[in-house]
Amino acid sequence: MSKFITLEGVDGAGKSTHIPTIANLLRAQGREVLVTREPGGTPLGEKLRGLLLHEAMHPDTESLLMFAARREHLEQVIKPALARGVYVLSDRFTDATFAYQCGGRGVSADKIRQLETWVQGDFQPDLTLLFDVPVSVSTQRLAGARDPDRFERENGDFFERIRQAYLARAADFPKRFRIIDSAKTLEQITQDLESIVLSI
Ligand code: TMP
Repeated sequence: MSKFITLEGVDGAGKSTHIPTIANLLRAQGREVLVTREPGGTPLGEKLRGLLLHEAMHPDTESLLMFAARREHLEQVIKPALARGVYVLSDRFTDATFAYQCGGRGVSADKIRQLETWVQGDFQPDLTLLFDVPVSVSTQRLAGARDPDRFERENGDFFERIRQAYLARAADFPKRFRIIDSAKTLEQITQDLESIVLSI
């Protein structure tokens, strides 16, 4: 049976580094894997990503565009792949909207829940890996980034609110979430990921 696995964490938590590792671990188990991302994952979604990462906009607009891109992603990519028996690994999904737009920007959770119901009904990831790291570490990692986007340019308080919102989501949905301590060494994180993938 296919599974929908999402990866989450504040910018600089290092999740993107580990996506190929997770995909390879799943492939080693004989699964077909599709790696995708949000915002993005479709031609229209990638155009919306360009706007979201670089154009100033109201937090509600940001939320609506995230869900517009998600609608396309779900219908064109995620659901068809799952129906073919493919494992889908998405670099971010709706938990990111609760963390960034609610936690970070202050949009009410009620608004986001309405959009969530509209766009995805009761569809949810089977597993969410939350890469968690103190904000002092993630912002230090970001400091070296070239040409930071609209989110990466935000301050430590913004990322602290996002981290806390992610941890609150993990506490609300303990069966779906696994928290990865992203302050560990690359080798230790790989070991943790191996044991998680083996348990799927
Ligand atoms: P990325 O850098 O992980 O590719 O993600 C792009 C940015 O988009 C990142 O700063 C988080 C942000 N984002 C949101 O604010 N809300 C969302 O719903 C998603 C999917 C991403």
